[in-house]
Amino acid sequence: MPKRIESHEEAISGIENVRQYAEMAKKSAKVMYGSFLKHIKSLSVGGGNYLEVGAGTGILAAMIAEDDPDVHITAVEISSDMVTVAREYIEERKLGGRIRFVTLDATDEELMEELGEFDLVYSILAMHHWKDPEKVIGNLLKVVGAGGVLFIHDLRRVWWLYYLPFRGSGFIDSIRAAYMPDEIKSIFQRLGINRYEIKRRFPYFMQSIIVRK
Ligand SMILES: C[S@@+](CC[C@H](N)C(=O)[O-])C[C@H]1O[C@@H](n2cnc3c(N)ncnc32)[C@H](O)[C@@H]1O
Repeated sequence: MPKRIESHEEAISGIENVRQYAEMAKKSAKVMYGSFLKHIKSLSVGGGNYLEVGAGTGILAAMIAEDDPDVHITAVEISSDMVTVAREYIEERKLGGRIRFVTLDATDEELMEELGEFDLVYSILAMHHWKDPEKVIGNLLKVVGAGGVLFIHDLRRVWWLYYLPFRGSGFIDSIRAAYMPDEIKSIFQRLGINRYEIKRRFPYFMQSIIVRK
């Protein structure tokens, strides 16, 4: 298995960089975020309170809220610039009443617990950025309410992308920083959790972790 290479770009910062990222993300909204929405709907959580972790530009949160009027979303993000841009987008979509963005580092146990309990806690394309995934996952599990679901969807460190001779490509760097199922299993073992699923997803450099409480 190729060795994991940490990606130090934990947060995209600088309002102009964030705006550029948001424009790029909007272009892939239908295809990419559409597939994330499908995965989330397949969990059959229905309406309720959702928590999105590493919520970026707010595009997915908006899609989810527009899809189901009974969903309320708290979206947490470590980058305050990202939160500024996301809030503008949420206002533009007139979803301010159902989506709130909070600047917060998901490793912060106290602040995470203050958010309350949720029917669904989900995170997309963020886990490979977490400096301490065990801490973050532990925090996320604590805020999933009884009968609720934790869903983490992220890249997988596949060798056929890992070894492509690209340097400084955000996507390939992220692949190199992503986790393999055995590493995820070790994290869950250390957390004392043994009921969860790791599913490989199309396109096969993606995977999901699902925990039902
Ligand atoms: C690759 S982006 C994905 C954003 C969004 N989920 C999407 O799919 O467009 C990862 C996001 O996670 C955020 N992030 C990284 N570490 C975090 C942490 N510890 N707590 C909260 N957000 C974090 C980054 O700032 C970044 O916006």
